Amino acid sequence: MSLFPTYVRHNVRFVKGNGAVLEDDQGKTYLDFASGIGVTNLGHNHPRIKQALLDQAEAVWHTSNLFQVPAQEKAAQRLTRLTGLGAVFFCNSGAEANEAAIKLARKWAQEAKVISEPEIITFQGSFHGRTLATLTATGQDKVKHGFSPLPRGFRTVPFGDLEAVKQATGATTAAVLLELVQGEGGVRPANPDFIEGLSAWCKEKEILLMVDEVQTGIGRTGAAFAFQTYGLKPDVITAAKGLGNGFPIGAMIAREELKPVLGPGTHGTTFGGNPLATAVAAAVLAELEETPILEETKAKGELFARLLTDELSGLPGMVSVRVKGLMAGVEFDQPVAPIITALLGKGLVTLPAGEKVLRLLPPLIVTEDQIRRAVHLIKQTCLERFEPAGSGR
Ligand SMILES: Cc1ncc(COP(=O)(O)O)c(C=O)c1O
Repeated sequence: MSLFPTYVRHNVRFVKGNGAVLEDDQGKTYLDFASGIGVTNLGHNHPRIKQALLDQAEAVWHTSNLFQVPAQEKAAQRLTRLTGLGAVFFCNSGAEANEAAIKLARKWAQEAKVISEPEIITFQGSFHGRTLATLTATGQDKVKHGFSPLPRGFRTVPFGDLEAVKQATGATTAAVLLELVQGEGGVRPANPDFIEGLSAWCKEKEILLMVDEVQTGIGRTGAAFAFQTYGLKPDVITAAKGLGNGFPIGAMIAREELKPVLGPGTHGTTFGGNPLATAVAAAVLAELEETPILEETKAKGELFARLLTDELSGLPGMVSVRVKGLMAGVEFDQPVAPIITALLGKGLVTLPAGEKVLRLLPPLIVTEDQIRRAVHLIKQTCLERFEPAGSGR
């Protein structure tokens, strides 16, 4: 194969998808509890989303940001309604959305706070992307290895440690960037008390609070965005993944007052906000606004949490179960790669989050029966694979 060997891939070729079900080139079907890493939140082949793409494909594909883009305006309007924030910048990925947030924070700090070398506080275990700035912001060494020199201007502290944030805050601090549920870092929800304290601290010190909602956004945790489940008022959020339900798009959404910071010519992208991507995003957001999907996700999330906890707790190899909405992590005392492969063999697609956490991100349209089936398959696989504790292994 003439591709860079960047990805470790399963030897499975999916050729069709419908709802929460995928089909491979051998005709075998799978329950999709990965959603393309938290992307196809509304399921595969969603009629409204597909139609939006087809309609836009018939009309016009790309015109550039030198002109008005009606679909972009529609998607932005829906995003501002759903978030309560006033300014949207469209790009093409999660990393780019975070890159835009980092640039916004730096420029704001230079102009509003006269800080010549602004710093951003981030957290251990976080993941913010693979561009040079976002991998530097990421609190995991494995993504940085071999890519020096890294940009300056980031300080990483332990996740959930408000004292450490206070210690790290200085005259040059511009912003805090965090995930409310660390996804790649092991599905770790932030403690609400920590978030409340962090929010108060950012206000007191006039620091921007920036929430990376790339994985937690678009209904994943049972609200349009996870910050809403924490009663938080961030200054900036970023989104991508589920925003296009599989069509590449990212967005940085900020408080209206920050709009003038990114004036004409300060930032840009050729494809960002492209008619095809934003027509799809507008349809995705319309589903969130106009259907009961968020309420249903909350209810399904409660069932998912209850089943995972009841069925898996106490099984050999199990450490803990963490669930927020339809974002779940099952932590084991050993690597999960063999479990993921075994589950794939049984027709259930899952993901790792780090070495020892099995991550489950079903589409929000998953049925209760499909949730029950997935939990049953996971339990069965764990029982088959792990010897009981104390068996003398
Ligand atoms: C929280 C978070 N931020 C940023 C990113 C990077 O997004 P992308 O891969 O679209 O650049 C990811 C991807 O997994 C993510 O989970």
